[in-house]
Amino acid sequence: MPHLEISDLITVTDPLSGARLPVRRGDVVRLLQESGDPRAARIVAGLPAGRDDVLDPLAVDRLMIGVHTEMQRLSEELRIGERLVHVLGPLFEAIREIAGRRGRFRLVDIGSGLGYLVRWLAATGALGPNVELIGVDLDAALVAEADRLARAEGLDCRFVHGNAFDLPEIATVYVSTGVLHHFRGPALTEFFEAQADSQALAFCHFDIAATRLAPVGAWMFHRARMRHPLGRHDGVVSALRAHTDDTLLRAATVPGIRPLLYEPRGLSNPFCTTLRPVLGIRPYLEDPLRLAMGRASRRLVGAEQLSRPGAAR
Ligand SMILES: C[S@@+](CC[C@H](N)C(=O)[O-])C[C@H]1O[C@@H](n2cnc3c(N)ncnc32)[C@H](O)[C@@H]1O
Repeated sequence: MPHLEISDLITVTDPLSGARLPVRRGDVVRLLQESGDPRAARIVAGLPAGRDDVLDPLAVDRLMIGVHTEMQRLSEELRIGERLVHVLGPLFEAIREIAGRRGRFRLVDIGSGLGYLVRWLAATGALGPNVELIGVDLDAALVAEADRLARAEGLDCRFVHGNAFDLPEIATVYVSTGVLHHFRGPALTEFFEAQADSQALAFCHFDIAATRLAPVGAWMFHRARMRHPLGRHDGVVSALRAHTDDTLLRAATVPGIRPLLYEPRGLSNPFCTTLRPVLGIRPYLEDPLRLAMGRASRRLVGAEQLSRPGAAR
């Protein structure tokens, strides 16, 4: 049975025009029942809809903003910003080295949601000067709320409505958090290919590590910290949908890119690892990146290390 996230089903956007499409509550309830998830079906059955059974778009927007606000609190608690900068800091250090310490760079966060990462980076200046910060998301309501929060906080960053498969913003480095598991099969490779075909020097996408503990850990954290049943449900399903090391490295093996995994399963402590990234870098960046990472670069591995007999899996 496929694992389905409610948030993917109740917000549907036309990929070409970006316009919001009407979603019939009964259709979503039926789909979730057929996928063997009666609990999710009950959650959707309780959402407000009009006489035509179309889900109330304003209520759905409010719900998505509420759930993402709870997700932000969880990210704050897990110190996700610091964990990301542990890898993104050396990556920008390596890029600066190659650029002769000059130039302006741009980080684009794909599927930025409420923009926690971009706003945290803008607030802390953790990547140093000359890094423009932009978030892109398919959900217009989340983009508008991320923008409102950034303005209220007086932050130097911006948010754009757009699709990961037709990116509206060029970048030096593309990043994402908690987005990869939404892309399945050929879409995962297409996602990496689009970035490899651009002028970007690297991508660095963080998602839930597919450890055996991930669904249990997700259940505990979301149960303890999130109030809305949709957030609790989707949090656990995300962990069940996390891609394996092999799937990520295979999908990121695209022309012009050196694919690397930071802290693959066998090298990480499953009690400490929540999010970890798959990286794709231009091959000439690998040595400067390893130098900038120091001892931590031992945790950065390519497919050849993972496939060696006895290697970490
Ligand atoms: C689980 S949320 C993660 C949000 C945010 N990165 C965070 O960590 O809080 C996944 C996000 O990806 C966005 N998304 C899904 N498909 C997308 C696509 N094709 N293009 C852009 N954004 C997308 C959703 O709208 C949602 O905001």
